[in-house]
Amino acid sequence: MTAHPAPATRQLASAAEASLHAPSVFNTQPWQWRIAGDTMELYADPDRQLAATDPEGRLLLLSCGTALHHARTALAATGWTSTVDRLPDPTQPTLLARLRLGHAVPADPEAQRMAAAVSRRRTDRRPFGDQPVTGQTLTKLRRFVEAEGAYLHVVPADQVPALAVSTERAAGAQQDDPAYREELDRWTNRPQWRGDGVSPETAVEPALRRVPVRDFAPEGNPGLSADGGIDKGAAYVIVFGMTDRPADLLRGGEALSALLLLATADGLATAPLSEAVEVAWTRHLLTSLLSDLGEPYIAVRLGYPLDHEPLPPQARRSPAEIIRIER
Ligand SMILES: Cc1cc2nc3c(=O)[nH]c(=O)nc-3n(C[C@H](O)[C@H](O)[C@H](O)COP(=O)(O)O)c2cc1C
Repeated sequence: MTAHPAPATRQLASAAEASLHAPSVFNTQPWQWRIAGDTMELYADPDRQLAATDPEGRLLLLSCGTALHHARTALAATGWTSTVDRLPDPTQPTLLARLRLGHAVPADPEAQRMAAAVSRRRTDRRPFGDQPVTGQTLTKLRRFVEAEGAYLHVVPADQVPALAVSTERAAGAQQDDPAYREELDRWTNRPQWRGDGVSPETAVEPALRRVPVRDFAPEGNPGLSADGGIDKGAAYVIVFGMTDRPADLLRGGEALSALLLLATADGLATAPLSEAVEVAWTRHLLTSLLSDLGEPYIAVRLGYPLDHEPLPPQARRSPAEIIRIER
């Protein structure tokens, strides 16, 4: 007969469940967890890699990093230490992290605020209003990103046109690629039972924006209106790192998660923008915005939406599909 799982296993399973809410490219949720005793392993799921949009698997690694950070945050918020070994076995490149549960400690209040934001956070593609994001908020976000081992570039106003052009050119190149169009079509028309993909309900109608937003409703049925704001007060940031090695991209994803959760906890709306990093030559344009000092991982739009109507949650896969507990 199977015994009840040990307390350590229960803690880890509940942290892995928190990671189901993590953001991922096209909502592919390309990860798997395996739990044994006090150890939990994160695996990339290469079958969920987007061959046309993400041929090198950079966005897959960023997505897995957000899941890892969500799980770490859930543990810290319930008062557990943990240690993480990233890419621990060179012979198993899909084994991205081995997380070992430590001991009980007083819960970390900052982690509690971020954990409370996990189920509230949404990618908000609506236009943001005029209220600016303060320098103080951006400084705090930068500190959190740096604590995760990545860097944050706050795009100054005179660089926003370059970000816009890079994004627009990347989107244009992708629209000319039948393999991209087929992939987008597949991930925006998912049967509900799959619990993944981007539903047109969360897509916004095409409109003039400071930086274009990906068209997730290519059939022309977006659920969100673009009326009322032009992203005037939005801040644009780029999460970047020193290399595009898997361990650094994984940390980039952890930093992205920290940024999104902290911003949500502080009342900001957030929307990742990755088109410009998906196409090699526009990614190089972004590198020049970083004074050629790093490797751009992803851009994010931050701000205050005019419309406060809560956004529908995007579907998620079930824990049974993603978490395996060895007994
Ligand atoms: C690596 C990565 C890249 C993403 N790129 C984009 C993007 O280019 N445009 C966009 O609107 N959303 C983007 N997203 C957001 C995802 O579409 C979103 O996380 C997913 O659909 C789940 O929805 P949720 O964030 O509301 O939970 C990205 C997310 C991640 C983690």
